Amino acid sequence: MLVRQHLIDPEICIRCETCAEMCQQDAISYDGVNVVVDYSICNYSMDCIAPCPTGAIDSWVMVENPFSVEDQFGWEELPAGSAGENGHAEIAEAVDEEVSNMLNAAHAGAGGETRRPGTSSQPCVNLYSRSAPVVAQVQGNFRITDPGAGSDVRHIILDLGASALPVLEGQSLGVVPPGQDARGRKHHMRLYSLCSPRDGERPNHNNIAFTVKRVVEQRDGAVLRGVASNYMCDLKKGDTVELTGPYGSTFLMPDNPEANIIMICTGTGSAPFRAMTERRRRTMPGAAGDLLLFFGARTPGELPYFGPLTKLPDSLIRRELVFSREPDKPKEYVQDRIRKCADRVAALLSSDQTYIYVCGLKGMEQGVEDAFAVVCSEHSLDWVRIRSTMRAEGRLHLETY
Ligand code: FAD
Ligand code: A2P
Repeated sequence: MLVRQHLIDPEICIRCETCAEMCQQDAISYDGVNVVVDYSICNYSMDCIAPCPTGAIDSWVMVENPFSVEDQFGWEELPAGSAGENGHAEIAEAVDEEVSNMLNAAHAGAGGETRRPGTSSQPCVNLYSRSAPVVAQVQGNFRITDPGAGSDVRHIILDLGASALPVLEGQSLGVVPPGQDARGRKHHMRLYSLCSPRDGERPNHNNIAFTVKRVVEQRDGAVLRGVASNYMCDLKKGDTVELTGPYGSTFLMPDNPEANIIMICTGTGSAPFRAMTERRRRTMPGAAGDLLLFFGARTPGELPYFGPLTKLPDSLIRRELVFSREPDKPKEYVQDRIRKCADRVAALLSSDQTYIYVCGLKGMEQGVEDAFAVVCSEHSLDWVRIRSTMRAEGRLHLETY
C-alpha cells in the first residue's frame, strides 16, 4: 500500500530550521547537512508549512516504503518523481480511468491535449483514491444564491484537519457520496472544482471550499435529484466527507503577475475563477496583468457570490456580469458581452501574456468560440492562428460539464 511521506527539498532548503522550531512533534531534525522529516513521527499537522521561507518544506511523495531519516540525510536532491516547482510533489500514479474520462470530456473543447501554463506551479495529482480517501469535516455550508432564486447554489467549507492536501487553483477533487445506487452498487464519484486558493479558504488554514449547485429536475412528472450535489448541499456543520484527488494538471493559473487572465463562466463554472482571483488578491494585488471576468446567470439573485464579487476593487478585476432573464431587459449571454467588449478583448488577444479560461455550461463553448472569431475579424486578427498558438502555449483552457 502506498503511503504519503512529507519531505524537504534539499536543493531549495536554506537550513534555517524554522520548520523544526514549528513542529510540535519534534519530527524534524538537522544533521548539519540536511533538514529532514521523520516519517514515523510526522502527524501532518502542517504547522511547519506556512513559516518556511523558501517552500522547500512543501514536498510530498507517495511510497510503499517511507524513506528513513538516514536516507534523507544523504540526499543532494529529492528522489525522481517526488518534487516539482514550488516544492509540490508530482505523483506519477495514473489518474484512474473514471476521472480521466470525466476530465477529458470536460476539456475536449480546448481541442484535445492541453498544456498547463508555463509559469503555473507544479500540480500534485491523485494523492487520495476511493479506497484511501481523505476525510474532511464540514465547517460551513451557506447558500450563495438569493433565498427566492430558483437555483440553490452553496458555498461549502471543509476542514482537512491534519491531512495534507496540496492543491492549486483550477484543480478538482472527487466526492464519493455514501450509500448505493438503485442496483446496489457503490455510487460513482463526482468531480467538484475547488473555489478556494492553494493556501486555504482561510489563508494558511488547512481548509478548502467548493461551490455546489443542487441538481433537481422535473421529468415526466417525477422529481429527479442529483445524488452527489444533493448530498453535498445537505451537509451540516460537523459532518464528514470522503474526498479523492486532487485532479487536473492543465487547467491551472499562470503564476507570473504580467499574465492577463480572461475568465468566462456560467453558474458553478465560477468556482475556479473565485480561487484564481483570490490567489491574485492575496499574493499580487497590484499585478500588472489584467483579470477580466465574463459571468453569466439568469438574474443577479441567481449569480453565485454576486454580493462579494461586486465588492472586489476595480483595480483587481474587471467584471462583466450578464443576465439572461431579467424582467424587461433583453436576454444576454457571456458571448454577447465578449462581442460588446471587442476593443478590450482584441487588445488582450494581441498579447502573448493573455490566457483564456472557460468553465461551466458545455453549451456556451460554441458561442464563446464564435464571439472570439467575430472580435478578431473586426480587429484584423486571425483567431484560428491565435487560438492554435494559445493552445500550444498552454494559454487556452476549457472545462465544461
Ligand atoms: P447525478 O445523480 O449524477 O444526476 C445527473 C442527472 O441525472 C441530473 O440531471 C439528474 O436530474 C438526473 N437523474 C438523477 N436521478 C435520475 C434517475 N433516477 N433517472 C434519470 N435521471 C436521473 N458541479 C458543481 O456543482 N460545482 C462544481 O464546481 C463542479 N465542478 C465540476 C468540475 C468538473 C471537471 C466536472 C466534470 C464536473 C463538475 N461539476 C461541478 C458537476 C458535478 O461533477 C456533477 O456532475 C453534478 O453535481 C451533478 O451530480 P449529481 O450526482 O448531483 O447528479
Ligand atoms: P438561459 O436563461 O437561457 O437559461 P443555469 O442557470 O442554467 O446554470 O445557466 C446559467 C446561465 O447560462 C443562464 O443565464 C443561461 O441562460 C445561460 N446559458 C444557457 N445556455 C447558454 C449558452 N448556450 N451559451 C451561453 N450561456 C448560456
